[in-house]
Amino acid sequence: MRILLFGKDGQLGRELQNSISSIAELVALNKNDSDLTDHDQIVHHIQQNKPSLILNAAAFTAVDQAETEPYAARLVNGIAPGIIANEAKKIGAHFIHFSTDYVFDGRKTGAYTEQDSPNPINMYGKSKLVGEQSIQDVGGSYLIFRTSWLYDRGSNSFVGKVLHWARNQPIMKIVYDQSGSPTWSRTLAELTAKVLTNGGEDFNHYLRQRRGIYHLAGKGQVSRYDWALAIMANDPKSEEQVVESVIPVRSKEFKTAARRPPNSALNCALFERVFGLEIPEWSTTLKMAMSATV
Ligand SMILES: NC(=O)c1ccc[n+]([C@@H]2O[C@H](COP(=O)([O-])OP(=O)(O)OC[C@H]3O[C@@H](n4cnc5c(N)ncnc54)[C@H](OP(=O)(O)O)[C@@H]3O)[C@@H](O)[C@H]2O)c1
Repeated sequence: MRILLFGKDGQLGRELQNSISSIAELVALNKNDSDLTDHDQIVHHIQQNKPSLILNAAAFTAVDQAETEPYAARLVNGIAPGIIANEAKKIGAHFIHFSTDYVFDGRKTGAYTEQDSPNPINMYGKSKLVGEQSIQDVGGSYLIFRTSWLYDRGSNSFVGKVLHWARNQPIMKIVYDQSGSPTWSRTLAELTAKVLTNGGEDFNHYLRQRRGIYHLAGKGQVSRYDWALAIMANDPKSEEQVVESVIPVRSKEFKTAARRPPNSALNCALFERVFGLEIPEWSTTLKMAMSATV
């Protein structure tokens, strides 16, 4: 089986390369190989490689930048997924795409299920919702995994930033009025690979039967403030921390171009039931992520 991966250099893309290359022949592309704003390139790579399955981990993920560059965000997050889905359908390939908790407005108290109606409150969320809809409109064999608060140990992720702040400033202010389901990129990649191996010989039928949108994130929910405390508590080099006080603050204390949903935790029970896979608690995978070799 040949799998084509878009977005190989991102947090998720890097982990997918590791998880998928052991179970299939993998052709992995980054932005230089295939820019998703160039739709002819997408078509070219799919036609040239003729994969059985396409994974799209590429996205315009700069949430604040999307407010000033909504057209670019829409091209990558909204239009490109539809082009990929269309090409996949033409050659009978399956398509696995990743979407976001930010399709929701965050006004719900509990965790969001797939039955809840999206209502994005920023341009990034809007562009990702267009992507979901364009894949569904094509009507091929697709899985859309919506994830939440994705992280690795890199300096751009929230985990990397908290570790940096804790080592460089005596006082940290972290918002307590946003909650979500932190998801280690490795867990997401490994669960995606398990979905593929679960199908076994009957892979094509298995995926087709399960077509749809699923929530796939770390189990449970936590505020950004408590998540930061957990990151610091699990820091394997905590002796390097200089921070003396971590102050919980409201989101409105930080001026950002894009609004964030106050609650974007995801209920992933449907994924667990349909694929027979257990998703670990966010706190368990955080411990693993903090002690893993990067
Ligand atoms: N990060 C989160 O908190 C989060 C939360 C929920 C859902 N998600 C979703 O999860 C998926 C993976 O996210 P991630 O955190 O792994 O993202 P990421 O680390 O930002 O990686 C995205 C990758 O896409 C590439 N890319 C951007 N524009 C592109 C273009 N025009 N053509 C081709 N590639 C392009 C980026 O390349 P450059 O770096 O060179 O631009 C980067 O390598 C995405 O669908 C995202 O929407 C993420």
